[in-house]
Amino acid sequence: MATDTDILGRDDVNDMDAILAITNTNADELVHTVTDNAPAIFTWDYEKGQRPALNKLYEKAKGSQWNGETDLPWETEVDQEQFAEAMGIPDKAGLAEFGIDITGTSLDSWTRKEWLEFTIQTQNWSLSQFMHGEQGALLCTAKIVETVPWIDAKYYAATQVMDEARHVEVFSKYLDTKLSGHYPINAHLKMLLDDIIADSRWDMTYLGMQIMVEGLALAAFGMAHATTPDPLLKQLLRYVMSDEARHVAFGVLSLKEFYDGLSDAELKDRQEFAFEAAVRMRDRFLQQEVWERMGVPVKEAIATFNVGDKNEDPFQQLLFSKIVPNCKKLGLLDANDGWLRTRFDTLGVTQFENWTDTGEEYGQFGLDQGDEVVTETEAQRDRLRAG
Ligand SMILES: [Fe+2]
Ligand SMILES: [Fe+2]
Repeated sequence: MATDTDILGRDDVNDMDAILAITNTNADELVHTVTDNAPAIFTWDYEKGQRPALNKLYEKAKGSQWNGETDLPWETEVDQEQFAEAMGIPDKAGLAEFGIDITGTSLDSWTRKEWLEFTIQTQNWSLSQFMHGEQGALLCTAKIVETVPWIDAKYYAATQVMDEARHVEVFSKYLDTKLSGHYPINAHLKMLLDDIIADSRWDMTYLGMQIMVEGLALAAFGMAHATTPDPLLKQLLRYVMSDEARHVAFGVLSLKEFYDGLSDAELKDRQEFAFEAAVRMRDRFLQQEVWERMGVPVKEAIATFNVGDKNEDPFQQLLFSKIVPNCKKLGLLDANDGWLRTRFDTLGVTQFENWTDTGEEYGQFGLDQGDEVVTETEAQRDRLRAG
């Protein structure tokens, strides 16, 4: 039986020293090599449509391609400072309303200039991590083309490879031409992507990427889409989300069949992997690299901002609003006496278990362009805000 120490490398999931000890030690590397241990699988069974839901997704994907160069209004003027002002720049009094007291900390001397810079750096960091995550999706989905045994899934995954190339391309272009700097990949995200690529079992790629990473991305993009005042980024995110909703549905529809046939012991491995992925993704949102770049003591800044129970932070919780119902749909929440449910309880996210899963959501909307999925994410956010 694996312990949290075996799974996470620390026995307390909230051990801040251990979390911050994980840093990106090769921030200047240009290429990063991971050994992919999975066997490539040919299938000689070419009968298309044996898995009708996957076949339908594939047909839908062929008609939903867009061009990142020509379909987005790149001529839009992006004034990062002005947009930061529009979204709201933190200050001491405003933070105090959220219970964050910076008195006596290194942040106490910050003027509006530093807080504006912090807001801008946070955006540079977020978009950089989106871009790195998209490259993770590109590699993982190329791997699925090789490793999944079903022809309908290979066909669909091939369309997702194209989607992910486009996502990397548009986030990279947005960063280069509209923002003011890049960040290397966050160490927690890198660790997770490495684990997904290195695993030899084909379904683990789906679980790590389509269910966990893309499930979280769908929620995170939804929040960014709802809050950005930039019409270019809004449209970019809407296009990306319409693809992502299909990708998450691909994960749910593929794994449902496979997981129904697994033993408890096999499901336990998947539950542990899902838990590990959830924790790595939560840890990355501490954005330790931004504090570092701002030149303040990272641990002090994070401790100042992490007041109260972070697990009760509605925005952190909302990030898991797609992941939890999808894990439930796959049977991962309840297998082995609810092992994963207990773990998700410790992260404060089990409350989402009865929200619509993405396979269902996509089906309900007749596999439409994803606008409705976007709207649903917005509606979920509003429900959460309303309490
Ligand atoms: Fe993507
Ligand atoms: Fe994706």
